[in-house]
Amino acid sequence: MAELEKSCCCTDEEVIQKIDQIIADHEGEPGALIPVLHAVQDVTGYLCDESLTQIADKMNIPLSKVYGVATFYSLFNVQPKGKYIIRLCESAPCHIVGAEDVYKALEENLGIKAGENTPDGLFTLEYASCLGVCGVAPAMMINDEVYGNLKPEMIPGILDKYRE
Ligand code: FES
Repeated sequence: MAELEKSCCCTDEEVIQKIDQIIADHEGEPGALIPVLHAVQDVTGYLCDESLTQIADKMNIPLSKVYGVATFYSLFNVQPKGKYIIRLCESAPCHIVGAEDVYKALEENLGIKAGENTPDGLFTLEYASCLGVCGVAPAMMINDEVYGNLKPEMIPGILDKYRE
């Protein structure tokens, strides 16, 4: 996997204090772990070991449980990710109308495989299950933006918009 430059900020005193504040804001709330993880990820970009340990310690929850929740839900990242996360649907309706060719175009343009980040930290390429837009298969999302009816030749133009 192409490594991003070390981007963890969770040893910064300011970030540690922000995480403490997030935990304090949710104190006593039932089921607070998921909103806390969300809010911390918004601050830190991804849930590194340091932030998960801090959350476990301060919330009095076993680290194994915190880690289990952070890795179970796909919306949480425990690895650094690119600024733009490309999720290409690999479910059957997209697959049968050419998702694999779109994947090859992405792989070629970005120079990475699924599960990797571009070395400049701009893109992460991932496979995803049905994105709920099967009517415009094959489809992908780049962050919150949906792209449908994809053809391999559309990929360079789409990606260049994010490079500007
Ligand atoms: Fe690809 Fe539904 S199968 S969006």
